[in-house]
Amino acid sequence: MVFPAAAAGLRNERDSGRGGRVPSPAGVRRDPSGEPVTPMPSDERGARARVVCQAPEAPRANRAPGAPHLACAPRAVAPRAQLRTDTAHPARMYDYYLGGKDNFAADREAAENALAAAPELRAMARANRAFLRRAVAFAAASGVHQFLDVGTGLPTAGDPYDYSRADTRVVYADNDPMVLAHARALLARPGAATGVVAADLRNPEELLRDPGLRDVLDLDRPVALILTAVVHYLADGDDPRGAIGTLMAALAPGSLLVLSHATDGINPDSARGAAAAYAHLPTPMTLRSRPAIRALFGGLTPVSPGVVPTPYWRPARTPRGGSDRVWMYAGVARKDDSGAG
Ligand SMILES: C[S@@+](CC[C@H](N)C(=O)[O-])C[C@H]1O[C@@H](n2cnc3c(N)ncnc32)[C@H](O)[C@@H]1O
Repeated sequence: MVFPAAAAGLRNERDSGRGGRVPSPAGVRRDPSGEPVTPMPSDERGARARVVCQAPEAPRANRAPGAPHLACAPRAVAPRAQLRTDTAHPARMYDYYLGGKDNFAADREAAENALAAAPELRAMARANRAFLRRAVAFAAASGVHQFLDVGTGLPTAGDPYDYSRADTRVVYADNDPMVLAHARALLARPGAATGVVAADLRNPEELLRDPGLRDVLDLDRPVALILTAVVHYLADGDDPRGAIGTLMAALAPGSLLVLSHATDGINPDSARGAAAAYAHLPTPMTLRSRPAIRALFGGLTPVSPGVVPTPYWRPARTPRGGSDRVWMYAGVARKDDSGAG
């Protein structure tokens, strides 16, 4: 399901019908170069409002049919990231690869540059979403129905979580204000135990402390940590292995780590060409080898078939032609009962 930007209080150039830059609303802040910086929706005190859904107050059986079982209330938080439409952002470039409409001219230009080097980026985005759906189904089949999805992205290709189950709980976390605005629209889903958290993977302690996470997830029970197509936006200096280790250490035994990551170990010319196109963006891409991606799992042992090219992780059917050009590895690991990892 694609949530219209208008529902989240956002517009893009296509919505404007003129194909050009959206006119700056009166009073819009500008950065030092004079480019508009569009603030996110604010509450009356000027702080950004975050919607937090509290834990169910009554068991489903005690509620009227169809009634939401969460109390959702805006909570003021300190302003953090702001929506920039003048610079490309990975969530919106990814939306463009997937054929979505929630992208701006800067995103489309950067995405076309990357596509010129790596035309398979569109197929990669689809393969990554398909892996995510398979991994979520694997988690559910393993009895894990809580999800911490960091680097959620825009819901261009739908929401992979199964809300037909009463015990599904999902926290969406991202550092892109537009992603967060769209994710908040998901909270309108009746009966869904969801939370939306403005968070940066580079600061896992802050994410773990966030009431938006604590109110939704029961960390005494297994959680699937979803890190699909996000860790390659962390440089080695950001200590991605440490960040993942901190998050996994906070999760109960039986929790899962679901990871997909761009590599230069497959189709290296395309991968390096695309990475060069990302290099001058605010979110450069760090390609990693298969051993380096395997190392991101720390002491956890990936379940069969291990860390493999994304289309080949437990495919439902024979991967389609062109799968061998997808330069992304994927794997899923389980934290064992000893808590190792
Ligand atoms: C390519 S999209 C992937 C979306 C989704 N995980 C998927 O696999 O379809 C990357 C997402 O990671 C987010 N992101 C990038 N760097 C991040 C960071 N340091 N902390 C949190 N989110 C980040 C971007 O905003 C974007 O939404």
